[in-house]
Amino acid sequence: MSHPRSIRLGVNVDHVATLRNARGGARPDPVRAALAAIEAGADGITAHLREDRRHIRDDDMARLKAEIPKPLNFEMAATPDMLRISLATKPHAVCLVPERREELTTEGGLDVVGQHNALAPFIAKLNDAGIRVSLFISADERQIEMAAKLRAPVIEIHTGAWCDAVMDGHQEKAAAEWRRIVAGAAVAKSAGLEVHAGHGLDYATAETIAALPEIAELNIGYFMIGEALFVGIGETVRTMRAAMDRGRAALRARTA
Ligand code: PXP
Repeated sequence: MSHPRSIRLGVNVDHVATLRNARGGARPDPVRAALAAIEAGADGITAHLREDRRHIRDDDMARLKAEIPKPLNFEMAATPDMLRISLATKPHAVCLVPERREELTTEGGLDVVGQHNALAPFIAKLNDAGIRVSLFISADERQIEMAAKLRAPVIEIHTGAWCDAVMDGHQEKAAAEWRRIVAGAAVAKSAGLEVHAGHGLDYATAETIAALPEIAELNIGYFMIGEALFVGIGETVRTMRAAMDRGRAALRARTA
């Protein structure tokens, strides 16, 4: 079976900005964290410009685009305002996510089946601008097939429910969520989509999912920024990279 030899790591720096915003000043700087993550081996940087600007702000996104030497993945809700900002920023990729103001984090996948009429022109404009569109969806066959129909080149599978179940020790639920991810990744790959995954990943779950042949990229934030408080961002990136490489090596051993 053919699969990418390596798997990319995108580091999400939102929560460096969360910490900065707690005092309203300029430190810690998410751009500095992004540069340190890249220096340690991150393949790209992800940041989510939320409608309420609770962490990343417009000038952070502009500075990330101007200052980082690796691809920028701009996460955003599908709103006219965000479309305007992303077209002006020209990131490497845009990941469309659902957004509700009151949520603590992005709680579920985008309903591309329910919103396909609204999403179609949105995706087309980003495609036309040469920005790689990724849709953050759950590993649901109908959602995946609609993503392909909408001509998004990439999906990102929402791993939150699986990671929560693993963390909470709910083995049956974790196994069921994992089966959904495995099946969804296969459906997506056969529909011609590039498959990414993210949300709630830590070293162990990243190692597990890196062994899925369809997964080309993981986007990881909260856990890594928390770990960085104890060991630094460089060490955290290197440890995550090693975990992902172990997962990939296990895949190669299985398919050799
Ligand atoms: N991918 C997407 C699309 C997200 O919205 C998020 C959270 O902002 C992540 C990945 C990273 O999730 P976490 O911070 O839990 O690692």
